[in-house]
Amino acid sequence: MTPEQINENKQIYLDICRKHIQREGLEDLLNYLDKETDFFTAPSSSKFHMNEVGGLCHHSLNVFNTAVRVHQQILDIATNSEFIEKLEKISLENIAVATLFHDLCKTNIYKVTEKWKKDNDNRWVSYSGYEVKDDLPFGHGEKSCFIVHRFMKLYKDELLAIRWHMGMFDLGENASPSRIAFYNALDQSPLTAIVHAADFLSTNCLEPTTKP
Ligand SMILES: [Fe+2]
Ligand SMILES: [Fe+2]
Repeated sequence: MTPEQINENKQIYLDICRKHIQREGLEDLLNYLDKETDFFTAPSSSKFHMNEVGGLCHHSLNVFNTAVRVHQQILDIATNSEFIEKLEKISLENIAVATLFHDLCKTNIYKVTEKWKKDNDNRWVSYSGYEVKDDLPFGHGEKSCFIVHRFMKLYKDELLAIRWHMGMFDLGENASPSRIAFYNALDQSPLTAIVHAADFLSTNCLEPTTKP
């Protein structure tokens, strides 16, 4: 990603946050992201989707844009009145909060490091990659919730959606407390399923991996 694209994504991200989120503490959170974290330049992963400079912000925008469409589409075809009522309660602000901040746990953890691979002639060559050093290993969605909550109040649907955005990939064995909690979260708020689906779709259908 070029510095121009990174800057453009940063501006788009800030504009979307300010347009859709009217909540006390937002500016403090945005200021924190800008001044005290690498959010706008961090990769989205160390070796998978959007493992490049600026990947994390770009991924967050993809998840927002996907979730807005998933919510609208599922509402268009839903026929069960209970589901429709729940879906209609999900606001654009809920979606913006739950998607644009779902991966804040990834800020300040990816460190550039020298890695090694074999070239076409079977010789070892070094390249620049990422390794993970997490000063607050507090869980994935849990840590994102914690970071946001230091600055801005989260509503229950948003908490559940951020906490469980990894869906089945963040579960223990059958009948484990985490699995039961996940199914409860799905039951309590459709935002949980929407954000998980949007994260999964963005990661696997929109975001390429840079091969070393
Ligand atoms: Fe995530
Ligand atoms: Fe994500």
